[in-house]
Amino acid sequence: MTAAPNATMPMAGMVTAGTAIQAIDVVKDYGTGDSAVHALRHVNVAFERGKFTAIMGPSGSGKSTLMHVLSGLDSVTSGHVMFNGYDITTFNDKQLTLMRRDYVGFIFQSFNLLPMFTAEQNIVMPLTLAGKKPDKQWLHRLAADLGIEDRLDHRPSELSGGQQQRVAIARALITHPHVVFADEPTGALDSVSSTEVLSMLRRLVDETSQTVIMVTHDAAAAAYADRALVFSDGRIVADVNHPTEERMSELVMEQRHSAAKLAAAGAPAAPVAPAAPVTAPTPVQNDPARR
Ligand SMILES: Nc1ncnc2c1ncn2[C@@H]1O[C@H](COP(=O)(O)OP(=O)(O)O)[C@@H](O)[C@H]1O
Ligand SMILES: [Mg+2]
Repeated sequence: MTAAPNATMPMAGMVTAGTAIQAIDVVKDYGTGDSAVHALRHVNVAFERGKFTAIMGPSGSGKSTLMHVLSGLDSVTSGHVMFNGYDITTFNDKQLTLMRRDYVGFIFQSFNLLPMFTAEQNIVMPLTLAGKKPDKQWLHRLAADLGIEDRLDHRPSELSGGQQQRVAIARALITHPHVVFADEPTGALDSVSSTEVLSMLRRLVDETSQTVIMVTHDAAAAAYADRALVFSDGRIVADVNHPTEERMSELVMEQRHSAAKLAAAGAPAAPVAPAAPVTAPTPVQNDPARR
């Protein structure tokens, strides 16, 4: 494990090939004893640089928790998170804050734009907060690519949901992040706006090799990704390359059925068998000792 060199430049000298981010045997419990919630149960997964990965699974299965521990928003109970070669579970709060500020972009279901500010002010907010000057050329390129150039002077309340999410995407990208995390980015959008946002995320990966990790409930949204994981009860139960809407719908239905069967049998939450057939998972993922 490599330690961060110092608090101000946690990512200096990083390597650029291969894995963008990796969870190694990550456990996340909320609370202790009988009331403990096991949100992540020994999760092992590596996210390749320049790939678009979708994460599916029922509500409460640990999807958001995984994003939070991968991005250093939340600590792990045990295990490690490697971000560009650094184990961020060893980072202090300041290092985590700087890592998120400089290397991570977030897109949320509810856009999280500041209502008092214009679209442009919202987009450059991460830089404003960091005391940095926005790169106007990059701002205008993003706005043009996202089709919001003529909306930059508008406040969020003057924009449609789809436009607001495009502003939020520009805000996530303004710092040239290494990884973009999107938690249900189309959850509040109509189908036309959803399609636009998903196409933009897809183009971003294809044209700029951006690494994108997206949580979604929607099998059609997952089909935009290069890879889709399915979570159930804190575990990854399927890992599919080139997901299709049909395949992902099937897997999600299978998870629902197993969960319903377990509930009917009065069984406690137990490991769910991986839905077969599943394309080759990353090597650390399938360690039977961990299931
Ligand atoms: N801050 C928290 N405190 C206590 N329990 C939490 C907290 N965050 C999430 N959980 C629990 O952890 C489990 C996983 O939650 P989450 O990752 O949000 O699921 P998902 O995003 O898949 O819907 C759930 O049982 C949830 O109630
Ligand atoms: Mg969630």
